[in-house]
Amino acid sequence: MEIDLLSPASFAGGQPHAQYAWLREHAPAYRHPEPGGPGFWAVTRYEDVRAVDRDFQAFSSEPTVMITDPAPDAAAFGPYKMMLMMDPPEHTGFRKLIRAEFTEPSARLRAGRIRELARQIVDGVARKGECDFVAEVAGEMPSYVIAELMGLPLDDGRELYKLTETIHTAPEALPEGAGAAAVMKMFEYGSRVMAEKRAKPGDDLASRLLACEVDGRRLEDMEFLLFFLLLIDAGGDTTRNLLSGGLLALMEHPDQLAWLTADLPGRVGTAREELLRWTSPVIYMRRTATRDTEIAGQPIAAGDKVVMYFGSANRDPAAIDRPDVLDLSRPDNAHLAFGAGPHVCLGQHIARIEIDAMLTEVLSRLTDFAPAGEVEWLASNFISGPRAMPVRFRAA
Ligand code: HEM
Repeated sequence: MEIDLLSPASFAGGQPHAQYAWLREHAPAYRHPEPGGPGFWAVTRYEDVRAVDRDFQAFSSEPTVMITDPAPDAAAFGPYKMMLMMDPPEHTGFRKLIRAEFTEPSARLRAGRIRELARQIVDGVARKGECDFVAEVAGEMPSYVIAELMGLPLDDGRELYKLTETIHTAPEALPEGAGAAAVMKMFEYGSRVMAEKRAKPGDDLASRLLACEVDGRRLEDMEFLLFFLLLIDAGGDTTRNLLSGGLLALMEHPDQLAWLTADLPGRVGTAREELLRWTSPVIYMRRTATRDTEIAGQPIAAGDKVVMYFGSANRDPAAIDRPDVLDLSRPDNAHLAFGAGPHVCLGQHIARIEIDAMLTEVLSRLTDFAPAGEVEWLASNFISGPRAMPVRFRAA
């Protein structure tokens, strides 16, 4: 079996499940070569992924959670970093700042508004009979939610969300410098928001972040900007990819789609969890071993890169019954699509509300879904999902 978890080509038709299966069986901690780098351990079994993600003492999120180390001259952020790339206790202090906005009860307060947005999105395409489901339906919701959370105009939400796609695309699939330019644009925008919200605070997360304190002091500009970047980045194309990847899975499994639509309100909950497991929009997160240790019997040296493959963990037969069967009624679905441990997805409750609202609106108002062209996948080894997915449908 040829193993290549770096080339975006391996993810050009969805996640490489054949490679994952081979690795889980033959090399659950696989020494993966890395051109221009030292290589990394690819961790593919459910129990190992979960254990690595939870053990922040042995497996650090510093200096980065991406496979490629930051270039030595990439000191643009100075000594600052996103909380995604911090370990407890520093991470705990930063996460606490925004935790309250993301609890299940806080997320539920947004449900009415999110359902209303879902209605508007489907209104926009219902009569067209055909559309690009990614751009016109799935991508609209996270743009709306970013704008809502941050207190920004919707068109700005759309612009910011487009930048996240560029940031998540493999550099080799982009024009030279396009990724860095997108990050810079995001920062310029964030700086404007910072000035506006300082001058005129609103009832939104951006204003609250600017008013809150960490270690008895206000956030510095760069700390605010990194939060801004993280929140927009993390909540954007992940949710979009779940929705488009989810609809694709439903079109490929008409029996499951029929089962779901027979009782949408009663079934959307288990269906959403199964679609999360099935699509696993975040392909991996990286850690760095802080000491000599072992994974699946394989010695790991201090300083080694360790990469957790969530999509593989979610198809591990040792943890999940009939993992290659899409079963929207699956009970107790303990998938790892949102990760585990101290960094477990902070936006998961909002994401669940967005997904339920969109699945409900799309599947109750539109019917007879069929592909209307080739699905084009994101060129990324980090985030998995369709980039474009033309579909045909009828108004129900
Ligand atoms: C289907 C949608 C989503 C998926 C699959 C997803 C998945 C993930 C994963 C795998 C992680 C890393 C967990 C780990 O390292 O253990 C993460 C972290 C995070 N997610 Fe999500 N996410 C989604 C939606 C969202 C949304 C809508 C938001 C915000 C509105 C969000 C905000 C965050 C943040 C802030 C973190 C970093 C948490 C930390 O470092 O403590 N996510 N997400």
